[in-house]
Amino acid sequence: MEKQIKSHNTTNISLIGFMGSGKTSTGKILADRLKFLFIDLDNIIELSLSMPVSEIFERHGEEYFRNTETNSIKKIYVNKNCVFACGGGAIIRHENTEIIKKNSTVIFLHVSPSAAFERLKNSDNRPLLKAPNRFEVITELIKKRDSLYRRTADFTVDTDFKTPKEAAEEILHWIDIT
Ligand code: S3P
Repeated sequence: MEKQIKSHNTTNISLIGFMGSGKTSTGKILADRLKFLFIDLDNIIELSLSMPVSEIFERHGEEYFRNTETNSIKKIYVNKNCVFACGGGAIIRHENTEIIKKNSTVIFLHVSPSAAFERLKNSDNRPLLKAPNRFEVITELIKKRDSLYRRTADFTVDTDFKTPKEAAEEILHWIDIT
């Protein structure tokens, strides 16, 4: 297998993908292997507002969360040698994807609705999934976002049957960090 060599900036890696795709676990392994700093965008948002994501949604609504997400992306992408785990909806806004693409190699961690549903079944901190018909919500959101994830990414890793460590190994094989 040949390595994919990126022509532009490869000093950062961004992991994008739906909730439950393994961005955080995979990102931590990648950062460790590359001796990069791991940065979770949701964490940055929570720190900036001193509130968990679920509370931001509850008290201020999704639009406010998205504005904070965009501001955090603008601030954090000036760093180098980082692995960024982006929130599942970070690709919704074009201005976010412009920054993400310009400043990192972007990897889409793909997950199917059934695998995401299974992985998220005990999660109660995803405000968008607080619905009785969770599987339908997941299916609909993934359908809506799939082309955005693919359009933003340099390449895709299918995570349904992979552990985060296996996904990280696949990414390490394909990227060319210099
Ligand atoms: C969201 C995903 C979450 C978090 C927020 C909204 C989304 O991040 O940013 O709940 O719109 O898909 P994770 O993908 O890290 O769970």
